[in-house]
Order: sequence, then structure tokens, then C-alpha cells
Amino acid sequence: MQYLEPLNAKEAVGKVAELFVDTFGAAPKGVWSAPGRVNLIGEHTDYNAGLCLPIALPHRTFIAVAPRESGVARVVSSFGDRKPVTVDLDGLKVRGVDGWAAYPIGVAWALRQAGFETVKGFDAAFVSCVPVGGGLSSSAAMTCSTALALDDIYGLGFGGSDEGRVKLIEAAMKAENDMAGASTGGLDQNASMRCTPNHALLLDCRPELDALHSVSQQPFDLDSLGLELLVVDTQASHQLNDGQYEARRSMCEDAAKTLGVENLRVVADRISQSAGDDADAAQASLSDVLDKLPDETMKKRVRHVVTEIWRVPQFVHAFAAGDVKEAGRLFNASHDSLAHDYEVTVPELDVAVDVARHHGAYGARMTGGGFGGSIIALVDKGKGRPVAQAIADEFAHRGFHAPRALAAVASDSARREA
Ligand code: GLA
Repeated sequence: MQYLEPLNAKEAVGKVAELFVDTFGAAPKGVWSAPGRVNLIGEHTDYNAGLCLPIALPHRTFIAVAPRESGVARVVSSFGDRKPVTVDLDGLKVRGVDGWAAYPIGVAWALRQAGFETVKGFDAAFVSCVPVGGGLSSSAAMTCSTALALDDIYGLGFGGSDEGRVKLIEAAMKAENDMAGASTGGLDQNASMRCTPNHALLLDCRPELDALHSVSQQPFDLDSLGLELLVVDTQASHQLNDGQYEARRSMCEDAAKTLGVENLRVVADRISQSAGDDADAAQASLSDVLDKLPDETMKKRVRHVVTEIWRVPQFVHAFAAGDVKEAGRLFNASHDSLAHDYEVTVPELDVAVDVARHHGAYGARMTGGGFGGSIIALVDKGKGRPVAQAIADEFAHRGFHAPRALAAVASDSARREA
């Protein structure tokens, strides 16, 4: 079983600076980094104005950058053939760049589109230990590290405050949505830009909220509860631009329209306000709402979104009270809802979750967009590796790709490294 350790920051800074010098023949202006994330709970809720609860991973993407006089951007990555991709930002259009370079170049383009015309071309080199395609937001780690670096070298002044970072998040999201063509709802970029060590970020995605009211930092100290959070990347291919994500998203929008509300968060809040702590009353009101929807698939999608929004504060309370069993139960309920109602799991995710549960996890669930990617499992300290091995054994038995694992510790958001 391959266990992915995070890169040591000092070594990573050296490596990325070396790649920069080898490629562009001069020293970079500095090095910045941004993390991947796992979402603890609150999946497919961000684009429904709901709640999510990500932590930043210790696994980060490092970027060495220098500004350029012209509008030309050159980017190189330690992945692949190490040949730089060159793009002129002047005249660049939506979807104007192919492949991985669309992510960093899209950020500069998005900042300029937002009116920050001081942003010019740049040279950038990337080194990363965030598994690519693992549903752990390697793309947000790339766009957010780029946004912070460009903010710094072009003196925009957003990186130093949470409020300012929201502007950079907008550019990172625009890069992913409009340049890379990968639909994303904001969870990943908020996590990469706003998480703090030893905390989970309770993110409230209601569009009317300002920066101050959209997040709160929730203590997330696994150690004190004798726990470990195991992440297993199933290596089942994971893509958000094949239409499935978009289809879920537009069905939620259609459902909200049918119900005459702005978004599905309104439905979740209305029911929980009227039902209070009475879970049966809440389920009964939810059934009444679902009865108003025209088809079975739409009913299932809405049931997932509403119940998943409810599970987020429930998880926060359970974890804060040290009720590990209840926290695990909520993980399980979330996965089952994503599997049966939202239908975004694949056999690899379901098998990994089942094996983790059978090997003593308090709870296990897929994390991220689904259709491949990773699972997380809440286990006793010291159990992460044996559970990961049991998953790897079962995968080998079934002829799945070999999975890889890592331990999630709530880490820091995007920052300057050197
Ligand atoms: C992907 C998207 C996020 C979010 C999750 C599901 O990671 O990029 O915005 O919608 O899926 O919770």
C-alpha cells in the first residue's frame, strides 16, 4: 500500500526554485503554496447555498513565480515532460488554453477580467504532492497558490485578509469554471484559501453572506479524541467535466425553481426552523416538499441535498461533544445518501467505505465530487494503516487499481513560503 507523505516545505521550496531556474534561466521572485483538502461532510451542498466542512491537507502545491513585462505567461510543472507552456494573456478567451496550464493561466486571466489590469504575464514552476485526480482538490491547490502568488507580485493586496482572499477565491473559481471547463462550486477554493491548522472550516455558501459571516473555524483536534482520519484515494478515474456534475447541479436548480425558492438551502432552513429538534417532524415536512416534485430522480437529489445540509451542524456538534460514534454515524449516513440518492459513487468508493466500516472505522464516506476519487474514514489512532491495507487487499482481490493512502491532519491554507 502506497502511503503518501506530504513534502517537507523546505525541500519543496528548493525543488520548485530549482525547476524554475532550470526552465527559465533566472531566479524566481518567491515561492508560495496552497493545500489540497478533504471535506469532512456537506457534499454537493456548496452550489445549493448550503454548508460544508473542509479541512486543509498537509499535502500542498508549491509555485515559484517571477513577473514579466509583457502579457506572456509561461508555466512548467514537475509532472509530465517538464516542457513549459507559453500563452499570451492579451486577447485570451474563455476556454482558450488546453490541459493543466488552463488552471494557473486562467487565474491571471480571471484577475484581469475582474479589472485588475496591473496583472501582467509571469513565469511559474510547480511542484506538488497533492495526488492528481484523487478528488483532493489538486486543481484548487494550483489555482489558489497561483492567485496568492500573483496577488503578491502584482501588489493587489488581497492575500493578507480573509475578506481579500475571497476576491482571490473568485478568480480561482473563474479559472476552473471558464478556462479549464471544470465546474466547481467554491468549496475547494475556500478550503485552500481559508482553512487554519487544527480547525475545520464551517463554510456557509449562502450568496448573501459577506466574508466575515460565511465561515467559522471549528476546532478539529483528532489527537485529543485518540483518532486518525484516513484518506484513501481509490485511483478510480475522477473527472468533473464529463457532464455528470453539471447534470446534478442543474437538476438542483430546476428543483428549486419548481419549489419556488431561490435555492435548496431555503428548503433545508425552513424545515429545520419549523421542526426544531423533532427529527420525525422534519422528515414528514421533507416528504411533503418532495411530493411537490415531478419525478423520482429529482426527489432523490433534493432529499440528499437537504439532509446533507442538516448533517453538517449535527457533525460539528457531535465532534465538539467528543461523540465519536455519532460523528461516525453521520459520515455513514452522508455516504449512503451520496450513493443511493445523489448517485455519485462508483464501486471503488463503495467497496473502500464498506471495508473501512468492517475493519472498525467509526464511519466512512466518499469525499469531494464523487465518480471516483477518495474516501475518508474516522478510525482509532494507529488503525489508519491496517484499514488502508485491508482496502488495498480487497481492491487487489477485485482487480481494481491499487489505491493509495494518506493521513489527514487539519493544516494551513495558502501562504508565502520564501
Ligand atoms: C467538487 C467541486 C466542489 C463541490 C464538491 C462536492 O469538489 O469542485 O465545489 O461541489 O465537488 O461537494
